[in-house]
Amino acid sequence: MTDPKTPAPKTFHVKSFGCQMNVYDGERMGEMLGAQGLTAADADSADLVVLNTCHIREKAAEKVYSDIGRLARRENGPRPMIAVAGCVAQAEGAEIHRRAPQVDIVVGPQAYHRLPDLVSRASAGGHALDTDMPAASKFDVLPRRARRQGPSAFLTVQEGCDKFCTYCVVPYTRGAEISRAWDQIVDEAKALADGGAREITLLGQNVNAWSDERGRGLHTLIETIALIPGIARIRYTTSHPNDMSDGLIAAHRDIDALMPFLHLPVQSGSDAILKAMNRSHSTASYLKIIDRVRAVRPDIAISGDFIVGFPGESDADFEATLQIVRDVDYAMAYSFKYSPRPGTPAADMDDQIAPGLMDERLQALQALLNEQQHRFNLASVGRTTEILIERDGKRPGQKLGKSPWLQSVIVENGPEAGSLLPVEIVSAAPNSVVGVPVSDRHASGGWHPAQNMARAG
Ligand code: SAH
Ligand code: SF4
Ligand code: F3S
Repeated sequence: MTDPKTPAPKTFHVKSFGCQMNVYDGERMGEMLGAQGLTAADADSADLVVLNTCHIREKAAEKVYSDIGRLARRENGPRPMIAVAGCVAQAEGAEIHRRAPQVDIVVGPQAYHRLPDLVSRASAGGHALDTDMPAASKFDVLPRRARRQGPSAFLTVQEGCDKFCTYCVVPYTRGAEISRAWDQIVDEAKALADGGAREITLLGQNVNAWSDERGRGLHTLIETIALIPGIARIRYTTSHPNDMSDGLIAAHRDIDALMPFLHLPVQSGSDAILKAMNRSHSTASYLKIIDRVRAVRPDIAISGDFIVGFPGESDADFEATLQIVRDVDYAMAYSFKYSPRPGTPAADMDDQIAPGLMDERLQALQALLNEQQHRFNLASVGRTTEILIERDGKRPGQKLGKSPWLQSVIVENGPEAGSLLPVEIVSAAPNSVVGVPVSDRHASGGWHPAQNMARAG
């Protein structure tokens, strides 16, 4: 064993991997530990390090073990108390203690509201494990959100998945689909606005499946959050094609604060592969949704997720994926090599694809997607739009913000984070665009902070 570790931790560090929901969970864990009197610290000095893990692909899941090894060999003092949270914790449970005895705490994504208690148990010596999926939701128990800084915030409204795509671990690691209660969400959105958030991204594994006992859907929630003073922008992710309701599509026409951006994964352009994936939608039904969304919001940026090398994927199936990418014309997208996951049906399917072929397909797909993203950025040159300033850039005075279409925008001499700044997009690179404040384009002088006060407020 590698004890002694620090007995009762006074400082903590949370490191989140994987999706935005893990980032959200990591923030909530940090708030809870803060409420217990612990203070935040760097990973190399904190008394307690929480690794908030992702199980979605093998590479992500294995990463945690190298991190544990590094923490256990800490050179500048006793090793920290180590907690493994997130989806690897849920999937592997007690196996983590067997493989890495230095781990003190294993806590699943539906049990992390009990983290303070697990820390006390681990402080008393021994291992603490909690991978329950309790009937009472953690959201009913978590403290109200701490006041936070930062113009863009995540808010989980829906969690879990009942769709069981044959490649995916999420239904097992996050459990069944649940929707958070209306009042809880609206309260949290208000608290985020009070803490300085100008943009809220509503999160869910199938966020567009959100509904409440009165039958209200995500678009009604968006409509209400849009009325909260201070909230200028709303986004939502990730959506499933089968839950794209008429109301949500219409919201892209009717709600100004809803940003013109839709992340709608299709995974493959081959109907045979979609069927084997148990996606329960077809390429035609997917394309129809894209058409309908574009009909109400022609400038909408479409984003997606793709898996190449699913078992049985032929050259023709892969060509069909390239074709649907050409048909949709994405503003951005994520693409992955299929990774067989323990316990999922696809891991046992015949015709697993050779790694070399997967590499080739991924490269071809990414070349096409990168070209589309660059073209999308180039097409935005000349547009005048409002960006949300998020943080400082590399150079003095330089600021980084986001356009409504989620492009990264670089501005020289921009106002402070949280400001909404009208800019003209003047040039484009594959991964970002450059904006010039409209006040600079049309006035003779440079940019003056005073000119912007009214808008930023
Ligand atoms: N609920 C969302 C996203 C789930 S995970 C959805 O249904 O779209 C995010 C992405 O990871 C998926 O969209 C998929 O493209 C990818 N992914 C999931 N399991 C995978 C696996 N076993 N191998 C490779 N990519 C995977
Ligand atoms: Fe995974 Fe499919 Fe559920 Fe998305 S819809 S989380 S890919 S099972
Ligand atoms: Fe990963 Fe779990 Fe999110 S597996 S992608 S952290 S839901």
